[in-house]
Amino acid sequence: MSFVASTGSERIVCVMVGLPARGKTYVAQRVCRYLNWLGISTRVFNVGNYRRKNAGAEQSHNFFDPDNEEGNIARQMAAVEALEDMLSWFEKEDGVIAIYDATNSNRARRAMIIEHCEKRGVQTMFIESICYDQDLILSNILEVKLLSPDYTKCEAEKAVEDFKSRIKHYEKAYQTITEPELTFVKLIDVGSQVIINKIQGYLQSRVVYFLMNLHIARRSIFFSRHGESVFNVAGRIGGDTDLSPRGIQYSEALPNLIKKHLGDDELKVWTSTLSRTIQTAQHLPYPKSQWKALDEIEAGICDGLTYEEIAEKYPEEYANRDDDKFNYRYRGGESYRDVVHRLEPVIMELERQHNVLIIGHQAVLRCIYAYFMNMSHDELPYIKIPLHTLIKLTPRAYGCDVEYFKLDIDAVDTHRPKLAKSDEADDITALKSITAPAYPEK
Ligand code: F6P
Repeated sequence: MSFVASTGSERIVCVMVGLPARGKTYVAQRVCRYLNWLGISTRVFNVGNYRRKNAGAEQSHNFFDPDNEEGNIARQMAAVEALEDMLSWFEKEDGVIAIYDATNSNRARRAMIIEHCEKRGVQTMFIESICYDQDLILSNILEVKLLSPDYTKCEAEKAVEDFKSRIKHYEKAYQTITEPELTFVKLIDVGSQVIINKIQGYLQSRVVYFLMNLHIARRSIFFSRHGESVFNVAGRIGGDTDLSPRGIQYSEALPNLIKKHLGDDELKVWTSTLSRTIQTAQHLPYPKSQWKALDEIEAGICDGLTYEEIAEKYPEEYANRDDDKFNYRYRGGESYRDVVHRLEPVIMELERQHNVLIIGHQAVLRCIYAYFMNMSHDELPYIKIPLHTLIKLTPRAYGCDVEYFKLDIDAVDTHRPKLAKSDEADDITALKSITAPAYPEK
């Protein structure tokens, strides 16, 4: 199954609409991250960046007054320049979805965008963000706008006042979407209500479905690999073995570690269907669910082997995997790309949830981590997710805070770094150093 194959030759611009501080950029970035993670080439074009480049960053609110002729011209120029760059990007870089991030808050501007896009065979889909919740708007101004390059040299209080005046200017000319012929999604108080009109096709529905699950409530997502397993100790991949004695110790210590970093909040625990994650979760006093989609990457004919055995028995397979680890599919098994696609429902559900702890596996957690940290498919298969370490991700307006909490219980290191071409000859030697000596028999 490939999401990319099913996109055909569709090219779509998601046009953000809304007053300033309505979370448009947040939504744009989130949609972009999600689609790129799925392998759908997506890019955000932020008109504010063009405006700052052309007219300078530190403009007072008067610049945005619809009665300010000079300001109008400069803003219109920035809008057209961004639009042109975006349309060329589709052609030059084979883009699939572009996100045009600006207020686009009146009919004339939207008609202009549609006209340019139609000429180049690109569909338009409008995403309007409407906020009735005044606290949400204020927290957006405080958390996001004050950090914007527009206000780097301005005191916080003055910046808030100036930004509120800027919003007032936009309010004078704002026209919510009422054009019945447009394809649109209206997001009301992100996460509260969604209204859709004329959504069609696979990609548009995907975007809508994602938007329907998005919320902005504070929460944390915890990741942990299962405790060290018998196969980890032996340097073998895959399988369905039990925890090693040190892995059992980790499972016993995990409840306190979680409590320390979660407090008394609610938590859901998700495991795979494999014994080592279920055993790791066994002492946790929270509701638990098992997901088949969280099972470790299927290694096919290599399941149960050590990396050294794979290099000896299937040298070609081994070299191919090193060559393009994200796309390499184990014979009879999966690639990282396959794992990303099977994890898509997990990501969608994660977006809807509050605090969640996923007890998973090395490859699977790399895929989920890459989603939250917006990492490329090249970096993804080499992300370090050490054993006996709790990772806490706290999503923020843009990006995520990450904290690592390592427990003082030894475990083998199963990370195999990306080899520089010149290191390939030494590969087998390198392999020997990543598998710890066998666990002592009792
Ligand atoms: O070694 C532990 C493990 O979870 C294996 O079961 C799995 O095949 C492997 O990690 C995935 O990591 P990599 O893609 O680096 O081989």
